[in-house]
Amino acid sequence: MRNPLISVENLAKRFPEPSGKGELTVFDDIWFTIEEGEFVCIIGHSGCGKSTILNALAGLDEASSGVIIIDGQAISGPSLDRAVIFQGHALMPWMSALENIRLAVTSRFPEWSKAQVQDQCEKYLRMVHLDGAHDKKPAQLSGGMKQRVGIARALAIEPQILLMDEPFSALDALTRGSLQDELMGICKSTKQTTFMITHDVDEALLLADKILLMTNGPNARVAEIVVNTLPENRSRDSLHKHEQYYPLRNHLIEFLVTRSRELASEAEGALDGRQTKVVRLDETKPETVTNSEPAPLRAVNE
Ligand SMILES: Nc1ncnc2c1ncn2[C@@H]1O[C@H](COP(=O)(O)OP(=O)(O)O)[C@@H](O)[C@H]1O
Ligand SMILES: [Mg+2]
Repeated sequence: MRNPLISVENLAKRFPEPSGKGELTVFDDIWFTIEEGEFVCIIGHSGCGKSTILNALAGLDEASSGVIIIDGQAISGPSLDRAVIFQGHALMPWMSALENIRLAVTSRFPEWSKAQVQDQCEKYLRMVHLDGAHDKKPAQLSGGMKQRVGIARALAIEPQILLMDEPFSALDALTRGSLQDELMGICKSTKQTTFMITHDVDEALLLADKILLMTNGPNARVAEIVVNTLPENRSRDSLHKHEQYYPLRNHLIEFLVTRSRELASEAEGALDGRQTKVVRLDETKPETVTNSEPAPLRAVNE
């Protein structure tokens, strides 16, 4: 079997207690893998450490222990192979939409000609349906348009991995819906490997191939990996018509409402990160996945 593109192994994050005595463990014993081209969502209550995990994947934050291996190499810092989209758009306010994207493209592809860079910027602005807004500054764009520029900028560097931290949570429902559709189309057609934090169960069911469920912190764990058994050709309009939709939705909501708390209060060792339960609701018995021994490392090059 091929190695997964991303392997998160035994990740933990701890902070010293403010009293100076002991440590606060935000999360511990986190193991999961992401295959090339897979879209993975993570769901859990505020404070369980989702953003910390995403930032560790981005190389912007360091875990206290454990390792993240991407393509056979342990990561040790940020890289243009990994693009991050946060809740806020984080655009340069003095630059136009096109200039914001150009800055990212020229950093990623310094050897490209001006014409190549321009083509790339225009292609990705078109992809997020912003062809008419090249010259607009962020202040002249709506919230949804700004987030679209952020998505175009992230995708224009053709990252190996796209990381998104609740990218649509500040948007109104209609804008969020159309951006989800666009993102789904782009990620499917480009087979973009994606890791996304969301608190929106329907968003996860629309976009994700699998959904990681995190227990409440402190001491949070990945309790389950739920396989999205909705058909590949699902759309936002038809999601609720599939027979798997309500069982899946109820399972995720029930986890968020009760099980994330109950599991968090269970005795230490109740969950084994290396034997994370994989749940498929179209089968009767859940399987477990045993995470393999850490893959051999190539030289760290970052
Ligand atoms: N410098 C710090 N000192 C102590 N605790 C921290 C520090 N930074 C973050 N935390 C804690 O780490 C936890 C996880 O944060 P975060 O990853 O943002 O969670 P999430 O994205 O799931 O809401 C939070 O409970 C937060 O209080
Ligand atoms: Mg967060």
